[in-house]
Amino acid sequence: MSHNHNDGKSLNRSINPSFHDILQLRLLRRDALKGAASLAVAGAFPLSMSLTGCATGGLKRTGMLGFSRVPLSMADNVRVPDGYTATVLLSWGDPIGHSSGSPAFKHDASNTADEQALQTGMHHDGMHYFPLPHGDHGSVNGLLTINNEYTDDGLLHTDGFANWSAEKVRKSQNAHGVTIVEVRDRNGKWEVVRPSRYARRISARTPVAISGPAAGAPQMQTTADPSGREVLGTLNNCANGYTPWSTYLTCEENWDSYFMNSGTLTPDQVRNGIPPRGRGYRWEEFDERFDAGKHPNEPNRFGWVVEIDPYDPNSKPVKRTALGRFSHEGACHTLGPDGRVTVYMGDDRAFEYIYKFVTRDAWNPRDRDANRHLLDYGTLYVAQFRDDGTGAWVALTHGLNGLTTARGFRDQADVLIRTRAAADTVGATPMDRPEWIAVHPATQEVYCTLTNNVRRGAASERATDKANPRVNNGFGHIIRWREDGNDPATATFKWDIFVLAGDPQHKDPAKRGSINGDAFGSPDGLWFDDGGILWIQTDVSTSAMHKGDYEFMGNNQMLAADIRSGEIRRFLTGPNGCEITGITATPDRRTMFVNIQHPGETSTERNDPKYPKAVSSWPDGALGGRPRSATIVICKNDGGIVGS
Ligand code: FEO
Ligand code: CA
Ligand code: CA
Ligand code: CA
Repeated sequence: MSHNHNDGKSLNRSINPSFHDILQLRLLRRDALKGAASLAVAGAFPLSMSLTGCATGGLKRTGMLGFSRVPLSMADNVRVPDGYTATVLLSWGDPIGHSSGSPAFKHDASNTADEQALQTGMHHDGMHYFPLPHGDHGSVNGLLTINNEYTDDGLLHTDGFANWSAEKVRKSQNAHGVTIVEVRDRNGKWEVVRPSRYARRISARTPVAISGPAAGAPQMQTTADPSGREVLGTLNNCANGYTPWSTYLTCEENWDSYFMNSGTLTPDQVRNGIPPRGRGYRWEEFDERFDAGKHPNEPNRFGWVVEIDPYDPNSKPVKRTALGRFSHEGACHTLGPDGRVTVYMGDDRAFEYIYKFVTRDAWNPRDRDANRHLLDYGTLYVAQFRDDGTGAWVALTHGLNGLTTARGFRDQADVLIRTRAAADTVGATPMDRPEWIAVHPATQEVYCTLTNNVRRGAASERATDKANPRVNNGFGHIIRWREDGNDPATATFKWDIFVLAGDPQHKDPAKRGSINGDAFGSPDGLWFDDGGILWIQTDVSTSAMHKGDYEFMGNNQMLAADIRSGEIRRFLTGPNGCEITGITATPDRRTMFVNIQHPGETSTERNDPKYPKAVSSWPDGALGGRPRSATIVICKNDGGIVGS
C-alpha cells in the first residue's frame, strides 16, 4: 500500500552535499547495514560534533537565519541546532482528552476501534495552531488541529492484516482524519490539556456536510445519502490551510487509493486514478461504499477541501466543493486589497496542476459568522506557466474557456466534480507534482514545491518546459510567482524558479541543483513564518532514500530559506524512515510545532508488524514497541524566536 506517487525509479548517481557529511553518512550507513547496533552508534554522534560551517563556509551569517546548521543524519532521532530543544508532544494513539474517555495507548497496538476514536490519529501531516481564547493572539494556550493522513495497518493492529475484520476497518477509519487537541505552555513545558471541551476527532466516519455548487448534484447522491449533501468522513488529509476567520482547512489528497471497482471504471474514475483492485486498504471488504462498482457516486464525495471550526466542538465539518476536486495537497490563503480571499492549491500527482480559488465576496473581519459561506461562492482558476516567464489563471467556469455543454460539461457542479478534466480542457500546464504552497506575509509572493517527477521527459511522457526544466526530475524544485499588480485575484502573473533541489556540484549537469547552502531533495512541506523565513520540509520517498542520487542525502529534513539572500540552511533532521511534514507556530514565534510522519517506513513489507521496528523505534525507544508519527515542539533554549 502506498500513498506516495513517486515512481521511485532507480536514481543512480551520487551527490556531494559536503565532504564531512558524506564521511559521517558513510560511517552511519555502514553501521546501519550491520543492523540494530546502528542506533547506539548513531546516538554517539551528538550535536556538539556537528560539522557546522563545513559545507556552508562561504556563507555569511548576515541574513535572516541565526542558527547553526544541522548536518545530514542517518540517526534514529530528531536533531535541531545547538541552542534548541525538540520534545515530543503528541503521538499516534495518545488520548486526545475527550470528556467521554481517555484510553491509554497500548504499545502492542491492541487498542480497539472505539478507543482509537478517542485517541490521536495515525500519520500526522499538515497542522495549525489556533490561539485560545478565540480572537486572541495568545502564545501559551491554543488548539492544535492535526491532519492524520493515512494508516499503515501493519502498525495499527497487533497482527497487521491477519484476520482482517470489520473492527480493523473501523479502527483504520477512526485513525484517519483530523485530531484537535488543546495545548498549553506550563512553566516552559508544552502539554496537552486533558480533558478539554475542544478535544475532538474527525475521522473517515464523521458526518460531513457537502456545500457549494456541487452539493446536491445527481453525481453526489448515493443510496445512503439521496440528498447528495452529507458524506461520512474525510480521508487522506494531507496538507492544510486556515482562513482569516480562524477556521481550519484540511485537504483530501490520495482519496482514490481507498476505492476499488468490482465492475468497470468510469472515465472519471480512470482520470482520478482509482485502482480497479484498490491499493491495499481493504475497506470495501467490510464497508461496501468503497467499492465504486457498487456505489459509483461515492468517490465523487472525496477529493475536496474541508472546512472545520476548531472553536466549536459541535460544529459539522463542511466539504467546500467550489474549491475543486483533485488530489488536494494544501490550501494557503492571502487577502486581496478589496478583502476578497484567494486560496492557492496544488494537485500532487505527476503532471497535474496548480489552482487558485478567489472568493466572490470580501471577508468580514467584524462578524465571524458572516464568513460562514464565503468559500461557497467564487471562481476556481488553474495555472498556465509560459516559457517567457509570464503566466495566466484560466477560470474553470461553466460556459467559459471551452467548458461548455457541447464539450460535455453539463453545469458548474460537473466542472467542479471533474476538475482535472476541466483543467485538461483549458490547457493548464502539467507540473512536477505540486505539493505545498506558501505566500510571503508581506510581499504576497507565492512559492510552491514541485516535489519530483522522474517521468518528466521520458519517452512517451511530457517533455520539459521552462517551469519544469529537468528530465527525470528526481530532486524536485520550488517555483514562485508574483501576481500582476500585486492583486491575488488577478488573471496574470510573472514566475521564476526559486531553487532547483539537488547537489549543485552534481557531475550530471541535468541533475545539478541551484541551492545556495545545504543539500536537500524532494521538497514538500512549505511555510512562511510571520518573519518571512521560508521553511522547507522534505519527503524523499522510502523507495528512493539512501540509494542512487539520494545515497548521501541522509534522512528527511527541514531547512530554512532566507529568500532575500537565497541561502538555505538545514535546521532539523528526522528519525529513520520518516517524512517531515506539517508546521505551525505560536503568534510570538517562540514555539514551533512540526510533525514527524511515518518513522520506520520501509519501501517493502510496510504491512508486516515486525518490520518497521527494525528501522526505527522513534519516539518511544526500544521499550516503545513500534514507531509512531508524532508532533514535536521546538523552542530556543533562551526563549527567543525560532530560526532567529
Ligand atoms: Fe500527502 Fe503530496 O503529500
Ligand atoms: Ca505532502
Ligand atoms: Ca510528498
Ligand atoms: Ca506523507
